[in-house]
Amino acid sequence: MATKYHPLRIALAVLAATAALAGSARAEFTGTAGLLPAGTELGEEAFDQPREVFRSESSGGRKSYLVNMGDVAFSSPLTLGGPARAAGISCNTCHVNGTTNPRLYIPGLSTQPGNFDTTGHLFNPKADNGVLDPLTIPSLRGAHLLAPYGHDGRTLSLTDFVHNVIVNEFAGPEPSQEVLDAIVAYIEDIDFVPNRRLGVGGKLAGRVSDAEKRGEALFYQPFPHDPGLSCAACHVPTGAFVDHRQHDVGSGGLFKTPTLLNANFNAPYFHDGRYTNYAQVVSHFDRMFYLGLSAQDRQDLVAYLQAIGDAEQALVPDTIQTRVKEISDFMGVLDTAVPEHNVTIAAMTLDTLDRELRDLTEQFPERKNAIVSGGVEQRGLARSALKYLVLSLHQIDGAMHNGHFDDAAAGLARSREMLAAAVPVLEASAPWSLFNRQLHDAHFAAVRRLYRSAVDPALAPRRPYDPD
Ligand code: HEC
Ligand code: HEC
Repeated sequence: MATKYHPLRIALAVLAATAALAGSARAEFTGTAGLLPAGTELGEEAFDQPREVFRSESSGGRKSYLVNMGDVAFSSPLTLGGPARAAGISCNTCHVNGTTNPRLYIPGLSTQPGNFDTTGHLFNPKADNGVLDPLTIPSLRGAHLLAPYGHDGRTLSLTDFVHNVIVNEFAGPEPSQEVLDAIVAYIEDIDFVPNRRLGVGGKLAGRVSDAEKRGEALFYQPFPHDPGLSCAACHVPTGAFVDHRQHDVGSGGLFKTPTLLNANFNAPYFHDGRYTNYAQVVSHFDRMFYLGLSAQDRQDLVAYLQAIGDAEQALVPDTIQTRVKEISDFMGVLDTAVPEHNVTIAAMTLDTLDRELRDLTEQFPERKNAIVSGGVEQRGLARSALKYLVLSLHQIDGAMHNGHFDDAAAGLARSREMLAAAVPVLEASAPWSLFNRQLHDAHFAAVRRLYRSAVDPALAPRRPYDPD
């Protein structure tokens, strides 16, 4: 699940360059202002979120301590350094729930939504290569099957790749071996989302249309001018549709063969995101490899790609249940870290829980921010239940730092009870919260109008924002 922080963060990034607002009513957020360029879009307020499937859970088990710790580190801006940390950006900001982020756009570093220059000036001036060469954010689903890493496949080991992301690309602090192993364990646990259309050996299954059948045949057919090649020779259906190799397919260099599994949700395509759909990709191969495809052939290949690239319930609505599950999984890290007296891991976990809980609290707007009448009292109850939980977690943090491990353990048991007791309270206020899709959409539309109007008064909403 995404750590989304405060809903105004996106809007604030829009405002980042307007000095007029610094020190204004929004002073509490000015830590972010100026760090991300004006016009930055992190896409954090989406109601539907990519579905997370873990290998450990789909085989009936539970995520391990290490996997949950990795999830915490993946969601924690403390893992990264400098401006990313200050702006509250974590791995999860770009790899939302371990996938991609087609909405992310950072002026100066992106040329279109969904791509990002990892060697730009913003996050690490030392890594700046002086060229705007943004790359799409790859989904990490099935990453354990997708070595070598990086679009250019420069790194064989996932551990080395993650280490480099933290230390060199984001100028972050040297991670402990424990945290590095945890992040890698988390990434390796992220599975592809199941696809009913996929049978044994990557063959199409279920009710296969004629177009899909023809597309599948074309996929395996040797290229007329290069009989050693076919789509399937590089995108190997028995091997997650990859061959673990780099090729020059006429896209400007050597790039690794990307997987086609769940790829319907990975647009834009190619390392730089130059193509927005499969039809453009198929035309590219047709041109580059002189395939001589007819219009029908191209459509058939697209139908086939859509079938194998599908996923069941790829997006799921943001619910109280998923939020509570994640908070509970994160608390599970404390179940080990507290008795082990692991102060560092406990501190990172408590910091991430604090962010998650604050973000959850913001889903129950206060009266002054409410966009509808009614449910005011309910929202108040939800907010205070979460506030007491946050305070209880702060006590664990204090106890850990002072070496009072028994108090910390007692605090953890109490926090668990408080979380359980909070669930029915949160559920009862759901209809008046941002877990109600209509309220969610109206709320963010209003927030965006409000902040755009601060940048350009001509865009000011005619009616006051707060009718409650
Ligand atoms: C600002 C956006 C952003 C953030 C933050 C970010 N990444 Fe990435 N990630 C990318 C981009 C862009 C690429 C492609 C880079 C390349 O090809 O060199 C990438 C590539 C990767 C890959 C390689 C996947 C593959 O199949 O080749 C892994 C693994 C990864 N990131 C993990 C992480 C981890 C772990 C963190 C946090 C420590 C992180 N990323 C933070 C944007 C981001
Ligand atoms: C020589 C190996 C090779 C062959 C043959 C090949 N591909 Fe690819 N394919 C690649 C590589 C490498 C990329 C990534 C290019 C880039 O990032 O610039 C790619 C990218 C793609 C993508 C975009 C996926 C994404 O997430 O960006 C699709 C879809 C695709 N290929 C489908 C096909 C189809 C259909 C065929 C047959 C007509 C085919 N490929 C033939 C190697 C190959």
